[in-house]
Formats: sequence, structure tokens, C-alpha cells
Amino acid sequence: MPRPALVLRLALLTGLAACFAALALMPERALLIGLTLALLLAGCLWAWPEWWIPLTAVGLIGVAGALAMVWSQRRAPPATGMSPLGAGVGRAIFYGKGYCSSCHTLADHAGGLRGPPLGATQQQPPIGRRAVARAEQLSRARGRPLSPADYLVESLLEPGAFVVDGYRDEMPPAHLPPVRLQPDEIRALVAFLLEQGGDADPAAIELPAAAWPDAALAVDTPAGDLERGKRLYFDLAGPAACAACHPLPAPGRAPQSSALGPDLSRIGGVRGADFLRRSILEPSAQIAGGFDTVQLELLDGTVVVGLNRGGDPSEVRLVRHQDLAAAATGAAAPITGIPRSQIRSRSLQPLSAMPGNYAEILTEEEVRDLVAYLSSLK
Ligand code: HEC
Ligand code: HEC
Repeated sequence: MPRPALVLRLALLTGLAACFAALALMPERALLIGLTLALLLAGCLWAWPEWWIPLTAVGLIGVAGALAMVWSQRRAPPATGMSPLGAGVGRAIFYGKGYCSSCHTLADHAGGLRGPPLGATQQQPPIGRRAVARAEQLSRARGRPLSPADYLVESLLEPGAFVVDGYRDEMPPAHLPPVRLQPDEIRALVAFLLEQGGDADPAAIELPAAAWPDAALAVDTPAGDLERGKRLYFDLAGPAACAACHPLPAPGRAPQSSALGPDLSRIGGVRGADFLRRSILEPSAQIAGGFDTVQLELLDGTVVVGLNRGGDPSEVRLVRHQDLAAAATGAAAPITGIPRSQIRSRSLQPLSAMPGNYAEILTEEEVRDLVAYLSSLK
């Protein structure tokens, strides 16, 4: 068989090189490029039969590369269904229906302190960059690769899987009631978090398919009477007197930092009826972060138990448990300062400063009314 003309041979080689370049630049066309490569390879083998070993090797590498790209695209979610909601929507969800800012600050915007600040702090980079380090740490610990996006998805859907040092496992899963964010909203939120100092690549956000169980999406409407619950909540002479320790700030006003209990003004957006019921009937079962009961043993042998109110380098401040009863009637809670030099040891007690006898003093109906009222605070 005669050798093909020089021009044809040059064209074959140029085509081969062009295919490799195209593969690198247009991975989404990998299938087409792979087929072209295979055809060109056949042409080259015909033009240089004696070079079949190197030619076959080069051609096979190209075709294998193309197949690998097609395979990895199959596994990734299709580009069209990806993220109709961008990071701008993520910001709106963060401050709005996600209730994230009720526990987290971001940059210098106001927010709660129950969860770690998500903006940059003196100790830590912003969450987009922090997620890279956390993903590396968890990949090593678990022996399987985890991307920064995977870490953030996990921290929203399964917050208890990794609990940040110094904090409590008390973040509500963002896809379950009452927060109940939808897959697109979770993607937008993760894109927004990645944007805080990291590389936001929305294409890298993969959600576990099994995360949205139907049962968890059922709406739980509490059965109680909201208005009766509200009266009970604010009646300081009544059996509940919740407002003594959980005063509700007027809409738009900052919660009172002197309040004895956590701010409940948006609690219904974050916690479902079961959690609220349990908070009333078994307050010590889960103690809200920042509202610990501490026990101090003093050098003279005295033991002081009280609600931790922080302190400074010279003293520890707390509201002693025997003073809580007075506070529960609406009187200002006396704060006791104990010099650190007098303290022998300090320990946390698994005991809530909230009255533990509501199960006895409230009727079942009153508890239901209170839960209905708390659920309405959003
Ligand atoms: C009731 C308070 C609360 C709410 C509401 C809340 N979080 Fe959290 N969040 C926490 C706490 C506490 C932690 C630390 C413990 C842990 O890792 O689970 C945390 C941890 C995180 C982390 C990991 C931070 C890190 O340093 O790795 C991210 C990210 C996060 N939250 C995002 C969100 C987003 C987004 C929302 C809104 C959908 C949200 N949180 C709602 C309390 C909350
Ligand atoms: C003597 C003060 C006091 C009274 C009265 C009181 N609480 Fe509390 N409450 C607390 C403290 C302190 C905490 C935080 C410790 C804990 O989680 O148990 C708390 C926690 C809670 C929480 C959990 C909040 C969260 O974000 O996790 C709920 C809900 C709650 N209280 C509801 C009520 C209701 C409803 C009443 C009235 C029936 C009430 N409390 C009466 C002091 C009080």
C-alpha cells in the first residue's frame, strides 16, 4: 500500500495534537474528542505501520483520558439542575429563613453567639477557608476524601457528626423541621459559606440523596392554644412565669444580656415542638450553650452552685441557685462575684438553672399551650 502524502500525514499529527489540547480545554466534550482521537489513531497507524507501539500508547492514553472525564461528569450532578439559587440567595437565607444568624455572627454583622463566628476572627480564618482545613483534618481521620463543600454540607445536615471544639452539639439540622431548607437552598447556603474566604465552586456541592426523608418533612403543628400559652408565659404571678428569665425583646430590639435564660424571641423558627416540650419538662436533659451551671469549691470548704455569668481575670460571676427563686418572680437577679484567689476547684454541673418541676406544677394542657406559643415565635 502506498504511503499517504506528506500533507495528509502532517494533518493527522496536527489533529492528534489538537485533540489533546481540546481534551484539556473542553472536558465537557470528552466523548466526542475521544471518538475523534480513536479515528485519528487508526489513520496514523495506517500512515506509519512501523511506529505502531508508540502511536498506540499515545492514542490509548488520550482515549482513556476522555473516558475518565466522561465518567467523572456522569457522577457529578447535571449542570442544568445545579444551582438555580446563587450565593446571593444564600446570604438571604442565612439572615432569614435559615435562622443561622440567631446563633452565628458573620463578619461584623450582628448575630448570636451560641455557634462559632463564621467570619474571620483573631484566632480563625473565615468559614470558607476554615472549611478547607476542617475537610483535610476529617479526610485524614475518616480515611476517605472530604471536600470543603462536603464538610459544609455535613455541618448543615448532620451538625453532630463533627462538633467544633469548645461548642455544644446543639445546632439544629437545616433540612429538618422547623428550619426545613430545600436542596436548592442548602446548595445556595453552602455556596455563600464557601464564598467567605474560600473558592466557591458550586459545581463541587454534592448533597446526599437520602438526606430528605419524607417523614421528617411532615409539618408538626402544635395542638395547644397560642393565646393562653402567651398569657401563661408572661404572668409572673402564675405557675410558669417564663418571662422572668426569658423576657422577649420588642421586635427589632437586641435581647437583654442580663436575662437569666437564652433569648427565645425566634425559638419557633429553630426548634420543633418535641424539643420545646422537653426543654420545659426536662430542662437538664440538654443545657443551652453559654448557660451552664457551675460548682465552685472554695478554699474554706464552702461549695457555691450557680448559673455562670462569666467574669474577668480577678473574679468569677454567677447567680447562685438559691437566688434564682427570687429572680423567677421578676426581681433583678443578684449576681455574686467570687475572687478567683479563693477558688480551689471549678466544675460544670449537668443541672439546668431553669426550674425542674414544671412537670408537676403545670397541667398537660398548659404545657401544650406554652409549646404552641413558643412555636409561634419566629
Ligand atoms: C441554635 C443555634 C444554631 C443555629 C440556629 C445554627 N447553628 Fe451552626 N452551629 C451552632 C453550634 C453550637 C455549632 C458548633 C457545634 C457544631 O460543630 O455542631 C455550629 C457549627 C456550625 C458550622 C461549623 C463551623 C466551623 O467552624 O466549622 C457551620 C458552617 C454552621 N454552624 C453553619 C450554620 C448555618 C449556615 C446555619 C443556618 C442554616 C446554622 N449554622 C444555624 C449553632 C447553631
Ligand atoms: C429561673 C429562670 C428560668 C425560668 C423561670 C424559665 N427558664 Fe427556660 N431556661 C432558663 C435557663 C438558665 C436556660 C438555659 C439552660 C438550659 O438549657 O436548661 C433555659 C432554657 C430554656 C429553653 C431552651 C432554649 C434553647 O435555645 O435551647 C427553652 C425553650 C426554655 N428555657 C423555655 C422556658 C419556658 C417555656 C419557661 C416557662 C414555662 C421557662 N423557660 C422558664 C431559665 C429559666
